[in-house]
Amino acid sequence: MIGQNEKILITQEAIQKRVEALATEITQDYEGKELTILALMKGSVVFLADLLRLIPIPLRLEVLPVSSYHGGLETSGVVTFATHFLPDILNHHVLLIDDILDSGTTLKAITTCILEKKPASLRSCVLLHKKIKTQPGIKAEYVGFEIPDAFVVGYGLDYQEYYRNLPEIRVLSAETIALRGQK
Ligand code: IMP
Ligand code: MG
Repeated sequence: MIGQNEKILITQEAIQKRVEALATEITQDYEGKELTILALMKGSVVFLADLLRLIPIPLRLEVLPVSSYHGGLETSGVVTFATHFLPDILNHHVLLIDDILDSGTTLKAITTCILEKKPASLRSCVLLHKKIKTQPGIKAEYVGFEIPDAFVVGYGLDYQEYYRNLPEIRVLSAETIALRGQK
């Protein structure tokens, strides 16, 4: 079984409750509007699937594969995504969805690129926020949980592509890091 050495930070029940509250807030804020959800892959896949089904307004779903970690525990600072994957969002209300806002490098790179395409509005929604690490001036309008500066896995978040299938959020242990090694 995976995750035996990793301590639970946020339980399944707590995630479910918070996702419901976020969905209610988003539904109210976008009432009467059409929404384009742009989900950053692969980290947001589980959060997205749960959140999406609780937002009963007309919406389009687009996904954008993004990577910035390249197997390590710290962002590489280089955000890789293919701009030709970006959908036509001119005059659309865009809601960006990601798993976690850490340094903010990813969110900044993507939002800069999206704003050039002149959407009607742009907001961001993240499940987790490591506030202490985030560069000043970068924020998400919708945040599930503020968390401490620890490397977390589960509910879509990975370490070297593993652990995405854990149903809760856990803190990656020193044992696991030693075992798997850092790239
Ligand atoms: P940022 O660009 O530094 O804000 O990093 C954002 C991206 O890094 C997220 O979309 C995640 O994919 C990844 N990331 C940041 N912190 C963690 C973590 O604790 N566990 C797993 N992935 C993380
Ligand atoms: Mg990510």
